[in-house]
Amino acid sequence: MSETSPPFYITTPIYYVNDKPHLGHVYTTMVADVIARYHRLRGDDVFFLTGVDEHAAKVADEAVKRGLSPQEWADQNAAAFRDVFGRLEMTNDDFVRTSEDRHKSKVTEYVRALLDCGDVYPGEYEGWYDAGQEEYVTESKAKEYDYKSPVNGKPLVRKKEKNYFFKLSAYRDQLLKYYEQHPQFVQPDARRNEIVNRIKEAQDVPISRTGMASSSGGGGGGWGIPMPGDPDQTIYVWIDALFNYLTYVDTPDRRKYWQAGAVHLIAKDILWFHASIWPAILMALKKCPGFDNWHDGQPLAMPTQIYCHSYWVSESGEKMSKSLGNFLDPAAIDNYVNEFGLDALRYFLATRGPLGVSDSAFSPDLFIEVYNNELANTFGNSCSRVTNMIGKYFDGHVPEEGPPVNGIGLVGATARTASGEIDGEGFYPYQRYLEVLDLNGLGQNALTVVRGVDKSIEITEPFKRAKQDGKLPEVGTILYNCNEGLRVASLLIWPFIPDAVELFWQRIGCDYAEQMKASGGRGKLDEWVEWGPDSGGLKPGTRIEKGDALFPRYQVK
Ligand code: MSP
Repeated sequence: MSETSPPFYITTPIYYVNDKPHLGHVYTTMVADVIARYHRLRGDDVFFLTGVDEHAAKVADEAVKRGLSPQEWADQNAAAFRDVFGRLEMTNDDFVRTSEDRHKSKVTEYVRALLDCGDVYPGEYEGWYDAGQEEYVTESKAKEYDYKSPVNGKPLVRKKEKNYFFKLSAYRDQLLKYYEQHPQFVQPDARRNEIVNRIKEAQDVPISRTGMASSSGGGGGGWGIPMPGDPDQTIYVWIDALFNYLTYVDTPDRRKYWQAGAVHLIAKDILWFHASIWPAILMALKKCPGFDNWHDGQPLAMPTQIYCHSYWVSESGEKMSKSLGNFLDPAAIDNYVNEFGLDALRYFLATRGPLGVSDSAFSPDLFIEVYNNELANTFGNSCSRVTNMIGKYFDGHVPEEGPPVNGIGLVGATARTASGEIDGEGFYPYQRYLEVLDLNGLGQNALTVVRGVDKSIEITEPFKRAKQDGKLPEVGTILYNCNEGLRVASLLIWPFIPDAVELFWQRIGCDYAEQMKASGGRGKLDEWVEWGPDSGGLKPGTRIEKGDALFPRYQVK
């Protein structure tokens, strides 16, 4: 590993294992996967974490209904999540299961530290409880939603319990100041504003539960992590879960990832926990002995960003969810993969998903349109067109660049705009999109190069010149540039459609996949996108192979 590879840490929520995975879970992990692959491609030392959240009362409740122990039911569903993520070729570096000892022992250590430091104290709590979400709802929110769950509409329950509390109210000012000094901490902006207002009235929060664990009161048989020093109480599942981001990298060789500043990808349903309780807990923890000097003489770091996306909704506008039963389950996801290929599903979800503040409807018609327009007719078609012409006019070998041809400069120009260094300080245009997690922007950025290739072919008409005497050197110029353009585009689009791109690389004689494999998954994007035979671009004479369409056009049946 190169000493200079900057560490980059990205996480997803850990998903409840009361039931099988669905498209919403797949989505967040897929987005994180594309981002992780982009960072690896440019050479960063990436750690990508996803996994499951097991100690929820609803996991224990479901287990009881099925005559299983909570652990048995959690095992089955954790395996289903692992399986679907594996089949979708997610490149997570570890998989969280909160019932593992390596997690539980660390959570116990953190909570004990908070108790010793005085930021966790015993008390009594009464309020409106949303059993489906495993969280208390504020009086004003309960009233606003007519004492029903704002998420699933089921009646809220009035609940009173003896608990341990975290002194959230003591961190209001510090949090608000942190938000002011780090305007990118919660993104998009609209989400940050919601949270800032709520933080101003934040009260202390219970972080333990009694008689775990079933939402109807007891019977879970010790499911959860016991409160240190008070075995009648378990650590509230939300606190247990949030800590996963830290427990899984709290080892000597992984702490650098945490210190680099985690990017937490979540959806809007769980923003409050991530944007208020989590940073406040970290602020409290980093004052405690050991955490004030946690790694390389530095105190425990704060995350860099909480990025909050919106929901996939059905075409009628309802949130896709388990409780509403309208989600795409693993079998439906498999159908898409079988029909269109995994790359197509990745590309569609990542570029057309609800990354911003609006929800996205999952529309099969839109899926087909995006597949045909962008993958089949643009990237796939351009690749076949150019490699076929090289086959036909140059016997399958990259031609020399001949005399200048009017209209071909467009290819290099679009490629430089999409990939080239623009400010002399190592800032590359794709980075603009990557930094703000604009995945559609990243995808379209790659496609502009392909569109430049198509446009140039239209203008320069290599197929006509090839039939004219003495014009073959000009055709060489055209096809050399077009092939270079597609090589650059393929690099920029690889994180979305790795399988098709790797096949294309094989055909045009590029060994980027092998190079990445040999260096622990890391690439050299900024070097590889450099243009021309003198800087690592395609060398004339390289063998180019033809092959089947990368994305066959889909005919609506
Ligand atoms: N276990 C908690 C999270 C703890 S994180 C420390 C939880 N689990 S969950 O199973 O309900 O998953 C919620 C997450 O799943 C959302 O934040 C989002 O990432 C994803 N999604 C669930 N449904 C979704 C949609 N309909 N659309 C998009 N993402 C969705 O909350």
